[in-house]
Amino acid sequence: MNLKTIRIIIAALIFLSTSKEVTSQTSYVPTENNLEARQWFEDAKFGLFIHWGVYSILGDGEWVMNNQNISIDAYEKLPSFFNPIEFNAEEWVKIAKNAGMKYMTITTRHHDGFSMFDSKATDYTIVKKTPYGKDVIKDLAEACEKEGIKLFFYYSLLDWHRDDYFPRGSTGNGIEGRKEGDWNAYIDFMKAQLTELLTNYGDIAGIWFDGDWDKKNANWHYDEIYKLIHDLQPQCLIGNNHHDALKPGEDFQMFERDLPGENKTSFGTSASHVGKLPREVCATINGSWGFDLRDKKHKSQKELVHYLVRASGFGSNLLLNVGPMPNGKIQEEHIQSLSEIGDWLKTNGETIYGTKAGIIPPSKDWVSTQKENVLYLHLLEKQTKPIVIPEFKAIIKSAKLFSNKSKVKTKQSKDGLRIEIPEADQNEIDTIIEITLK
Ligand code: GLC
Repeated sequence: MNLKTIRIIIAALIFLSTSKEVTSQTSYVPTENNLEARQWFEDAKFGLFIHWGVYSILGDGEWVMNNQNISIDAYEKLPSFFNPIEFNAEEWVKIAKNAGMKYMTITTRHHDGFSMFDSKATDYTIVKKTPYGKDVIKDLAEACEKEGIKLFFYYSLLDWHRDDYFPRGSTGNGIEGRKEGDWNAYIDFMKAQLTELLTNYGDIAGIWFDGDWDKKNANWHYDEIYKLIHDLQPQCLIGNNHHDALKPGEDFQMFERDLPGENKTSFGTSASHVGKLPREVCATINGSWGFDLRDKKHKSQKELVHYLVRASGFGSNLLLNVGPMPNGKIQEEHIQSLSEIGDWLKTNGETIYGTKAGIIPPSKDWVSTQKENVLYLHLLEKQTKPIVIPEFKAIIKSAKLFSNKSKVKTKQSKDGLRIEIPEADQNEIDTIIEITLK
């Protein structure tokens, strides 16, 4: 092959790769209010995730149907025991607000296939099958609207209950009583439900899809589903917990118990798949998503604040989960932990809300956030010696402790930036140094 032929091949390859990119990008152009919503989302930084369903009764997490191989017949008895008479939507919304959260994401239908809202597309709903009989999603939508908290809907793509979720995926195969059905009917069912969710509950801030990983090669008809959502509510942000690179039509990228690019778990997202859209890390307040009676792994205030601060330092939101109990209450320990994060944010929120990842890259001991020329260095571990940030080239105008605005000693050299903070000035949870850049 001569040089000319090689050049022609390279040019053709470049053309093919860019033209493909153009088609996938031009197929979805976010509207002005969608772009505004993305900006709002990036600034909001902190939300409440809620996993609540008929599975909560069993106190064994939201995967109980799969994990205990509960047959369709047996599981169908659960709704008749679901009577959360102590549920109070306003109380939940106030708990979130008091924690400094700006939005909440609630499971409208999880993998067990039970709809927690009033749906005409199926009878398997909270309104039709439980003694409670009320649409809790409606109550939450109203309470959120009243309190100025934005509402996102978690929606499972995976379904262990419906026959038309067929061919089946990699999970739920020990559940007896599953039959065969028509995949296209399943897609139509999801479209009908999403239409209801985006028509009957006011402005919805986003749809949070989950379960793609159950059938990696399925045709989920995302082009049609995403278009439907954006046609109904153009500002509605679409995210999908597929753990892959972003797909056309998505507005934010989520990371399950994983900081963007870290990929430390089996459900992580590889560093090369971290995209440019707004990011959200989701994590549990203890060890489970759905209510788990035996779970005592409640995270401390320090761990929770660190999760939030680290997420911010990776340019991401934190969506922190609680699994309310079957009576409709959030566990006392969790209400307490949430209010403790709220206390921390009341004093330090300025270094989190509205920030981006700072120019100092995250490390084991610190992360940085930044608002224009103000850089916040969050020291998450106490330091006995001065710290050195390598390759720090920016010019510093001033450096002070965020807490009391006292001056912090810094020195720049070819080794980087040296910062000295006496141990007595360091905080147990997070020592924040406010660095103003020229
Ligand atoms: C996983 C689990 C699911 C949970 C979700 C939250 O995908 O399957 O139960 O809802 O993570 O991120």
